[in-house]
Amino acid sequence: MSEQNLFKVTIDNITIEVPAGTTVLQAARLIGGQVAPPAMCFYSKLQGSGGKCRTCLVEVSKGSEKDPRPMPKLVASCRTTVMDGMEVKNITSEKVIDARAGVVEFLLLNHPLDCPICDQAGECHLQDLSFEHGKSETRYEFHRRTFKKHDLGKNIQLHMTRCILCYRCVFTADQLTNKRVHGILDRGDHAEIATHIEKSLDNEFIGNVIDVCPVGALTDKTFRFKNRVWFLKPMDAHRDCPTCSGRVTLWNRGDEVYRVTARKDQWGEVEDTPDGKPGWICNTCRFDKKETSDWVIEGPREISRQSVIAQGHYAGKIGMSKPKETFAAINDGRAPHLLMDIHDESEVNQPTIHLGKIQGPSHGDTFNTNNTHKA
Ligand code: SF4
Ligand code: FES
Repeated sequence: MSEQNLFKVTIDNITIEVPAGTTVLQAARLIGGQVAPPAMCFYSKLQGSGGKCRTCLVEVSKGSEKDPRPMPKLVASCRTTVMDGMEVKNITSEKVIDARAGVVEFLLLNHPLDCPICDQAGECHLQDLSFEHGKSETRYEFHRRTFKKHDLGKNIQLHMTRCILCYRCVFTADQLTNKRVHGILDRGDHAEIATHIEKSLDNEFIGNVIDVCPVGALTDKTFRFKNRVWFLKPMDAHRDCPTCSGRVTLWNRGDEVYRVTARKDQWGEVEDTPDGKPGWICNTCRFDKKETSDWVIEGPREISRQSVIAQGHYAGKIGMSKPKETFAAINDGRAPHLLMDIHDESEVNQPTIHLGKIQGPSHGDTFNTNNTHKA
């Protein structure tokens, strides 16, 4: 251990120093990118979460500087704290890749592949995992689990067949509301999310269970089947809310607000507010404020380019926010003296020419007005 109480840990050959007590998963997230293992049940804003799904398994090839023996089994990185000199393998370990494929296969044993009709499609962690590690066929020969339908109230829809029993929604209800009315009933294959005596989930902060659910087991009834997330334009917005931070992401099409969610960070967790507290939002903001006039629009939400949501993303327009001026930003703050539309000025950019019809490399003649490549 160094003087500053920092531990040196190497993950996938990248060394980083982190405070004692940091978990391997958190250290890997500090490195970022693919080095960070996937996490279906751990949620840094929920105390006690993690240790359920095993998607975050990693190989510890060196325990510590003092005891360099490797750990005999793969360990859950969300529940394993770093030791000084520890060496960890995530994507550089064949054992981990193999085990992760096995975990995904187990998670999909009972999970229906109903992504085409699931509201979580496009932002589902299990969908991403299946894409990366899943197999095209199942070895499972039995009927998938079915459940009696439970009505959780007017705002939240439960699809129990999609639940992976990560416990995030239970921790959310425990830690954000004063009286939890749902939980995991029964054990083993019969375990299910339910309210036992058909109570509705109506606490003012209970809507956050929708945001923490990593799959489509808990979805927003006010948004259900209305649109696909990749057709919507996420915009950051806020309002002066007496109950919560009021900082949200609006999911719009045109000027119409389809859905309101908390703002999420790159790990899919609710973002912190400027005062360092998790930006959970209340039910009023989430379910009742569906007019753009209810909100102060801040601008387009940054979406990872890898996300399918980015495919339909834009940076501005529809009268809600001005497109960002980029010229001054890249020109040391100087504004341009004269701006010309290159389509007006250059024949090379004639939009009437069908580029797909040009054979071989193009040259000046290709763009003569008498050319034969017209669209
Ligand atoms: S409903 Fe969602 S958040 Fe709750 S345990 Fe199931 S998968 Fe996890
Ligand atoms: S994220 Fe670590 S066990 Fe689920």
